[in-house]
Order: sequence, then structure tokens, then C-alpha cells
Amino acid sequence: MKHFMHIGFAASLLTVCWASSSYHGMGNAMVRRANELTRKGNNNLTVHEIVAKWDLENLTIAAVREAPVNWPLPMLNKDWDGVTLDLNATVDLGISLIKKASENQARVIGFPEVWFPGYPKGILNSENPNPWFEYHVRDYIENSLVIGSDNWNKLVQAAVDNEIYVGLSFSERDAAHLYMAQALISPDGEILIHRHKLRPSAQERDLWSDGTVDQIYAVSTPIGRIGMLSCGEHTAPEATFIMQSQTEDIHIGSWP
Ligand SMILES: *[C@@H]1O[C@H](CO)[C@@H](O)[C@H](O)[C@H]1NC(C)=O
Ligand SMILES: *[C@@H]1O[C@H](CO)[C@@H](O)[C@H](O)[C@H]1NC(C)=O
Ligand SMILES: *[C@@H]1O[C@H](CO)[C@@H](O)[C@H](O)[C@H]1NC(C)=O
Repeated sequence: MKHFMHIGFAASLLTVCWASSSYHGMGNAMVRRANELTRKGNNNLTVHEIVAKWDLENLTIAAVREAPVNWPLPMLNKDWDGVTLDLNATVDLGISLIKKASENQARVIGFPEVWFPGYPKGILNSENPNPWFEYHVRDYIENSLVIGSDNWNKLVQAAVDNEIYVGLSFSERDAAHLYMAQALISPDGEILIHRHKLRPSAQERDLWSDGTVDQIYAVSTPIGRIGMLSCGEHTAPEATFIMQSQTEDIHIGSWP
């Protein structure tokens, strides 16, 4: 599997929360809303029936390392001249990676920060201001993902079809705002986490709005407690303290 890294987990780590029930979005209005807006995937199995088929002594986690569609390569290239992002094609690529991970027995897949439609690398370069905003901000807004849209529902369906936990990171468009969003989708199509990065870093704030602190949490699943943070949040004690105190077994950290 050239596009993924494998991480093996010891059985002892994963049995801790085996008995805990699945999460129903208690008290989290964003998760409830995301579930209401989502067209539920066509699945006949409960998450417990799906997980019962897995070998939890040898859990494979997939981390996406491939670039989004049209993202400037190689990695350190920040030349956006002539680049237009393509959310539709990136969603299709993401679905093919979800399928590939599942075919290789991965039970969880994580995507890099705002992989949908792609991190606007170069906007943090304050010493050498570039015209990224002038030429690309409209394209970026139009290619940000909307909860409940066809693209969103396709990603949820991919989690169901491939019976895998999908940890998304995406630029979310919600009315007049963009957010650096993360979501965890269960193999039965339930949205377990939907969150916005609490405080985008530096010039990211020119593009994206803030999240709120109640969006930092871990959820119980039949494979353990899972949590997510985005890039610079990993250096903020107010974020990492909450995640540690909520005793995650699996952490999905998204970086550009
Ligand atoms: C789910 O069950 C229905 C009716 O029992 C069946 O028609 C459908 O093909 C099943 N779907 C899947 C994904 O197994
Ligand atoms: C993306 O796909 C949708 C259909 O799901 C289509 O209506 C839309 O025009 C496409 N966008 C672009 C930019 O091709
Ligand atoms: C763990 O699972 C992976 C993926 O299915 C497989 O390649 C590997 O051989 C398994 N290892 C053990 C010790 O079962």
C-alpha cells in the first residue's frame, strides 16, 4: 500500500472501551445538526455487527498521504498560478482512497488538514506576501464542502459501503463562514464528531472562522475512544489537556 502508513495497536489498548456503547451525539448541537442534514447511507448492519467481523488484536489505521486533485506539487511548491481546485474530483479521489484502505483491511482512515479541497499552502508566508487571496479566494470558497451536500453524502456513503471509520478534514462552507472542519463518520453512516478548529493559526484566520471549545472531545466507539485535533491545536494546552483527560485510544491528528 504505497499511499498509506500502517500503525499497529496493542490489543490491551483497545479492549479498555470495548464494552462502551456507540456515541449518540449527546449534548453536541453540531453533531446533531450534521446527522439531521446527512442522507443516511444504505447499510443493513449495525456498527456492532460490522465491528464483530474485525480482528481487534490487529487493527490497521490508514493515513492518507496522497495530494488532493490539482494541489501544486512537489510538496514545497507554493506556486498557485493557474491552479483551480476541484472539490468534486477530490471527493472522488478521497472515496477511492477510502475503498483502497478498506480493501487493505484498514478499519480507520484519516485525512490531512483541509484535504478537501486542499490546504492553501503559501498563505502563511508573511515575509513574502503573495497574491493567493486576490486570485484564489473565490475558487477556494466555491470548492469548500457543505454538510448535507451531494459531495458530503457521497463521503458518508463511502464510509458505509467500505465499513470503515472515516476521519475527514475539510474546509467547510456554512452560510457566510468557512471553517477548518473535522468529522468522524462511523461505518454505519452516523456522524460521531463534527468540529471546527478552535483558533485557526496566523493568516489562516483571514480565511477561516473560529470554532468553539465544546467542539474538543473524544467519543466512545466499539473500537475504543476516538478524538481529533487539527494541526496547531496540538500545541495548545487547552486542546491537548481536554483530549488527554477524555482518555483517547485513537487520535486522528490532521496536518497540511
Ligand atoms: C439491505 O437489505 C435490503 C432488503 O433486505 C436489500 O435489498 C439490500 O440489497 C441490502 N443492502 C445491502 C447494502 O446489503
Ligand atoms: C460538481 O458536481 C455537481 C453534481 O454533484 C455539479 O452540479 C457541479 O456542477 C460540479 N461542479 C463543478 C465545478 O464541476
Ligand atoms: C495485521 O493485519 C494486516 C492487514 O490485514 C496484515 O497484513 C498483517 O499480516 C496482520 N498481522 C498479523 C500479525 O496478523
